[in-house]
Amino acid sequence: MTDQTATPRSFAASAPLKGRIAIPGDKSISHRSLMLSALAVGTSRVTGLLEGHDVLATAAALHAMGVQIEKRPAADGGGGRAMGATIEHMDSGEWVIDGVGVGGLLQPREALDMGNSGTSTRLLMGLVASHPITATFVGDASLSGRPMGRVIDPLSQMGADINASPGGRLPLMVRGLAPAIPLSYRLPMASAQVKSAVLLAGLNTPGITEVIEPVPTRDHSERMLKGFGADLTVETDSEGTRHIRIRGEVELKPQTIVIPGDPSSAAFFIVAALIVPGSDVTIANVGLNPTRAGLIEVLRQMGGDIELIDPREVGGEPVADLRVRHSALKGIDVDPAVAPSMIDEFPILFVAAALAEGRTTTTGLDELRVKESDRLSVMATGLKAIGARVEEGGDGLIIDGTGGDALPGGATIAGHLDHRICMSFAVAGLVSTAPVTVDDIAPVATSFPNFEALLTGLQE
Ligand code: S3P
Repeated sequence: MTDQTATPRSFAASAPLKGRIAIPGDKSISHRSLMLSALAVGTSRVTGLLEGHDVLATAAALHAMGVQIEKRPAADGGGGRAMGATIEHMDSGEWVIDGVGVGGLLQPREALDMGNSGTSTRLLMGLVASHPITATFVGDASLSGRPMGRVIDPLSQMGADINASPGGRLPLMVRGLAPAIPLSYRLPMASAQVKSAVLLAGLNTPGITEVIEPVPTRDHSERMLKGFGADLTVETDSEGTRHIRIRGEVELKPQTIVIPGDPSSAAFFIVAALIVPGSDVTIANVGLNPTRAGLIEVLRQMGGDIELIDPREVGGEPVADLRVRHSALKGIDVDPAVAPSMIDEFPILFVAAALAEGRTTTTGLDELRVKESDRLSVMATGLKAIGARVEEGGDGLIIDGTGGDALPGGATIAGHLDHRICMSFAVAGLVSTAPVTVDDIAPVATSFPNFEALLTGLQE
């Protein structure tokens, strides 16, 4: 059955990509900046917020729970335009959030529509779990297929009453408990969303809530909670396991936050510049938090020419400009230990591997099966359809690359409502003999509204 509302888009063999771009704000940090600002006492200001659908779903949900959030145009008038504005406009203007204080969220009148966003859902479930309110969470077909048991378990142990659809899925209803019961929780999988859900629930819970994290995942929640004045400590034991402890019922102080560019969005242009012959692209202001920077390490191991220019700190996070030049990539065995620091970058890494010389193997990626789509299966199917040599294993892909030759292309790819799948095949189209068509480009707006505009700009 074809979806009448879908917007197909074709991507054809490209001239060299040249120029300088700035990518939108980090999605993970954007969600957290809104949530913590919402719980501070007073007015916080955020610039560089990602205005993608996922983050806007968080903003709308917080608004529905009594938080005043608005976008103020920059003094030069460049800011307050349409949500789908270009990067120049995203850079200007600020979001102003009047926090209600920890414990101050109000009961929403209607179901909270999370759209496609797992981060909004899981982190907001954590907030609701320790407030005396009830909220219903709904989402699109992709989100409604994703497992929520991983947050339902710890939040129920803290006293929340959660009624989910079969399989622990959306739609679901969370009835929070205040005061909630503090918990010491060992993460059963490497998930920053689960970690953050428990820590956020711990904010309004008396005493100490602890998350034990054997495999480190992105630490934006910890950094930002400390920045807002939460009583949070991180201790690493002799086995390398992190013990993150938060003391609840502490007042958060409002902040002024500058959000760095999203390395997961930069990833598409890093790989595009590496594989489109003759390319030379500079990507400004890319977040390089070590818990997110795995792709750069892996691409360099493959022979990618990626130069870090002017490393600095923005909003408590390391950033740099990246200069990326076309490179002859070589296949490698990707160390599974690097997976958590590039968990969202595997779809585009697979495209790079399809152009490399020799074999690339990846393992330890079972979490990819429960992202916005089953990214192992969807990438294997799509890459095969455009002529790449790919074998799907239980927890990874084995890819034999072309050694830099164009892929045949000439297929329509099902994006499965997964933004990163859509953008990965858009990039694959740039190095294919016949155009690659993405069946519906709309999901890109969840994380990277101006992706196509930036790509076109580099082709001119
Ligand atoms: C995210 C954590 C990751 C990542 C997602 C954003 C976050 O998910 O895939 O895009 O902001 O905490 P998991 O925690 O499920 O690995």
